[in-house]
Amino acid sequence: MKVLVTGAAGYIGSVVTELLVKEGIAVVGVDNLSQGHRQAVAPGAALVEGDVGDASCLGRIFSGHAIDAVLHLAANSIVESSMTDPALYFRNNVTHGINLLDAMTRNGVKRLVFSSSAAVYGEPASVPVTEEAAMAPVNAYGETKLMFERILKWFERAHGLKHISLRYFNAAGASENYGEVHSPETHLVPNILKVALGKGGAIRLFGDDYPTLDGTCVRDYIHVSDIARAHILALRHIDRVGSSVYNMGNGNGFSVKEVIGVCRKVSGHPLPVEVHPRRAGDPPVLVASAEKIRRELGWRPDYPGLEDIVRTAWEWHRKYPEGYSGAA
Ligand code: UFG
Repeated sequence: MKVLVTGAAGYIGSVVTELLVKEGIAVVGVDNLSQGHRQAVAPGAALVEGDVGDASCLGRIFSGHAIDAVLHLAANSIVESSMTDPALYFRNNVTHGINLLDAMTRNGVKRLVFSSSAAVYGEPASVPVTEEAAMAPVNAYGETKLMFERILKWFERAHGLKHISLRYFNAAGASENYGEVHSPETHLVPNILKVALGKGGAIRLFGDDYPTLDGTCVRDYIHVSDIARAHILALRHIDRVGSSVYNMGNGNGFSVKEVIGVCRKVSGHPLPVEVHPRRAGDPPVLVASAEKIRRELGWRPDYPGLEDIVRTAWEWHRKYPEGYSGAA
């Protein structure tokens, strides 16, 4: 089997690519390296430096390789920046995605696994959220993911495309070799660990007046390697299960304050905190029910606990304190 991974040099793409290579699946990665890192692509995978929005680049990839399936991870994925620059998000996450579907259609590729997001649900009426919950995004990022999920249905109808959308909740942690580095970094766990590494004075906590037990936002953190394994399962089972959507979480919610507490324990650092106003577009509580993927694809997390997830991130950040610029 040969698979095209878009966004292969990104945080999740790098760990997905690493696992595919380990499983003996041939990988062609495409990444424009705007957010990804060349060093994050596992040796053994081919990397094309190019943009999913570039039809000629995709044309060359599909004519040069017999691709059986596509894992589409390339995207802009920062909630807050989607609120200030929606054009960027709709262009890259929707228009460029259509470009990919077009290229797949022209080349007879009929299997796609799509990186969707818990952000499609907006502010769910109750948690844990199942796949049947109402979808009402509260940020432009979530809207782009929902739009693309809907577009997939029409490509199925017109061209027989089989698609599985994995709605990730909050990815965290690292594999031994690949971890989370964004510039600027906006995500909670790497930002906390930066402070633990002595790079930044205090953790900026965005909002302590949410309607939650301690006033801070609650999220469901899931290990990036467990997300990666869900991609392999989706690939292996897509012909059997057909088009579907699956939530990807551990079913446990942790507040920002609780995450900071776990990071204190793992890093041994006191981790000072400064409270700032709420960030635009942040829903108060997002916790997944991942019963469907457990039942239908047999997925089980290797890292169901937050402390183990954070520990892998901490080990990676200590090994690569300068991120990929410090990696061999
Ligand atoms: N937060 C802080 N300080 C920080 C960073 C984050 O207080 O330095 C808070 C946020 O306000 C939020 C929580 O920590 O309440 C988690 O924030 P992240 O930025 O780590 O993650 P998000 O929940 O905003 O977003 C992530 C993914 C999105 C996805 C979303 C679904 O980045 O792609 O989860 O829940 F849509």
